[in-house]
Amino acid sequence: MSYRLTVLGTGYLGATHAACMAALGFEVIGLDVDPVKVARLQAGELPIHEPGLEELLQQGLASGRLRFTTSYQEAAEFGDVHFICVGTPQKKGEYAADISYLDAVVESLAPHLTRECLVIGKSTVPVGTAQRLADKLARLSPAGDLVELAWNPEFLREGFAVRDTMHPDRIVLGVVSEKPEKVMREVYESMLAEGTPLIITDYPTAELVKVAANAFLATKISFINAMAEVCEAAHADVKDLSLALSFDERIGGRFLNPGLGFGGGCLPKDIRAFMARAGELGADQALTFLREVDAINMRRRARMVDLARELAGGSFRGCTVGVLGAAFKPNSDDIRDSPALDVAVNIREQGGKVTVYDPVALDNARMAHPALGYGRSALEAAKGAHVVLLLTEWQEFIDLDPEKLGEVVAARKIVDGRNALDAETWRAAGWHYRALGRP
Ligand code: UDX
Repeated sequence: MSYRLTVLGTGYLGATHAACMAALGFEVIGLDVDPVKVARLQAGELPIHEPGLEELLQQGLASGRLRFTTSYQEAAEFGDVHFICVGTPQKKGEYAADISYLDAVVESLAPHLTRECLVIGKSTVPVGTAQRLADKLARLSPAGDLVELAWNPEFLREGFAVRDTMHPDRIVLGVVSEKPEKVMREVYESMLAEGTPLIITDYPTAELVKVAANAFLATKISFINAMAEVCEAAHADVKDLSLALSFDERIGGRFLNPGLGFGGGCLPKDIRAFMARAGELGADQALTFLREVDAINMRRRARMVDLARELAGGSFRGCTVGVLGAAFKPNSDDIRDSPALDVAVNIREQGGKVTVYDPVALDNARMAHPALGYGRSALEAAKGAHVVLLLTEWQEFIDLDPEKLGEVVAARKIVDGRNALDAETWRAAGWHYRALGRP
């Protein structure tokens, strides 16, 4: 049987999941409470920058297999499998995650569930949430026992969302009975046929896999950035150090790029929510190291500002700073907790005249930080600059010609916040080149 799917919440995760499931041949309804978002998606317009996704969305709509709605009743009547894909942002002024959107989905959906179906949680949640939501579903659904919850965390990376959804590294499913496995084996058949490992486990383990993975990745980044701090003190070179470490297969080179550190909508808030939840469980000691991981990460931003100020001659007053990058990482227009914008705002607050350029995140940046200056190209952002900062490693910046850039700046000084440029090439073109963690 071919199941009919709904995707509840059409943000980054949901929009991607809905379009990808339609591309796999399923009939899909995407639901969101925001009518503007639904109208845009229904018109084939993607509110985010994600390579390859808009095409999939339009193909899905054209095939008739994909549509969007704001009606829970419609979604409930249609779906055999309901995927919950809403966000769990950090609470204001707290480390904990705000899971109110998840509760809202369950409370809105459940009263309309009058027949057998599966509800699959994909959002990143504090451990214990799935069981709580399962109890709520059972309580509020007219179909009672015929409605079952399973937890299937999502590991997609922004910029690779389509690829990661269609060809995941692994599929994790937290269950309390055997039924969800049978259904999900059919839904994810194409992935399983490629040999993707399927790990069947209980709710809390499935929930923990996701936060543990993000905690590990954050730790790996902060580890190499801690080494960068030591390298700076010892006049050593963290880029060579990282390269040498990477050949040890037990360590590996991925997520070992030293620089300005991690940002985005996931890693920072997930490690904080993880600490908060461990505290509630009385296991806070186990995760005190994540406090350090967070602190190392935030120190990189401060160090970047210090380095820039040093190159500016000790003060930003009267100084023009060209900033390359606004997105939290390349190939994304996401500026949530972006290290690049954090640095730009800080320099402006210290009196610098900052002009930012980013290939796709400019509109988002301008909306969030209207007081910063913006340029329409790297050359425009660097025009008249006393210091240029590379803060997001877009390929376009890596490919910059140091000669051409040198012609527009006031002084050939650059800080490479992502260790992405070839130092020799830039120095040979007369640039004073500095990078985090390098002599
Ligand atoms: C992350 C996880 O990778 C993904 O599995 C999860 O589902 C969501 O969170 P994402 O937020 O898209 O994905 O970004 P990711 O590619 O992990 O990068 C996170 C941050 O780390 C970026 O700011 C990036 O610039 C930084 N980073 C990454 C480094 O500073 N150094 C590295 O070596 C790698």
